[in-house]
Amino acid sequence: MSRVRIPHLQKAYREGRRLTMLTAYDATVAPLLEAAGVDMLLVGDSLGNVALGHQSTLPVELSDMIRSTEAVARSTTRPLIVTDLPFGSFEQGTAQAFGSAATLLKAGAQAVKMEGGAERAHLIRFLVENGIPVMGHLGYTPQAENALGGPRLQGKGELGDKLLADAHAVAEAGAFGLVLEMVPASLARRVTEELDIPTIGIGAGPDCSGQVLVWADMAGMGAWSPSFARRFGEVGQALTEAARAYVEETQAGTFPGPDHYRES
Ligand code: KIV
Repeated sequence: MSRVRIPHLQKAYREGRRLTMLTAYDATVAPLLEAAGVDMLLVGDSLGNVALGHQSTLPVELSDMIRSTEAVARSTTRPLIVTDLPFGSFEQGTAQAFGSAATLLKAGAQAVKMEGGAERAHLIRFLVENGIPVMGHLGYTPQAENALGGPRLQGKGELGDKLLADAHAVAEAGAFGLVLEMVPASLARRVTEELDIPTIGIGAGPDCSGQVLVWADMAGMGAWSPSFARRFGEVGQALTEAARAYVEETQAGTFPGPDHYRES
């Protein structure tokens, strides 16, 4: 089966099929998510928190995103790969944004994601006009955590009008989709109704055109996960149990057993 491309997503969106997206950062997990039938894999800059042990996405470098994109692209064949433009890799202008985005496409992404609203519309337009599909990202935008004061609901009350205007600006600039993170469900519904591109929600209620989750939250890898991220499994616990069995059997001398080695 060939890779999902933007026209496939647009067709699914027009047919009213809800779109699915999960983050992926490496060649171990990405094919497992592909096997579940996910439409899009997001090489998110959340890899800073999930895979690199940072407290935020701000330290993530373009080189981190390139390495992860290559791994996800090499290990999958079907989902559309969207890679985040990390903090500091695009804000200075069209030349910087194009250079970073082109590098990510060369690494194997089919599209990039850019945080921000009307103030970024000129960057989105330039990338799209030059053949690079862009997904927008509004609401809680982790790269602006210092300005926003940490993860909290965005677009409440009158601020909803600003978010709505930003959503229109991003769509008019040519974005093929828009992530809405931590916004009131009623606002996400309104944005979804008014735009003619798919909205992908995370902590934005059920009425978006699709949903995205960080894979480790979805799978229940850590003891804590955000309230909007349902744990669809307890994979972290299963992994620790497997590792504990390995440690115990190795210490007891029951591993490796006769099935696990050969004389010739
Ligand atoms: O980096 C990421 O994982 C994201 C999602 C939260 C949408 O941007």
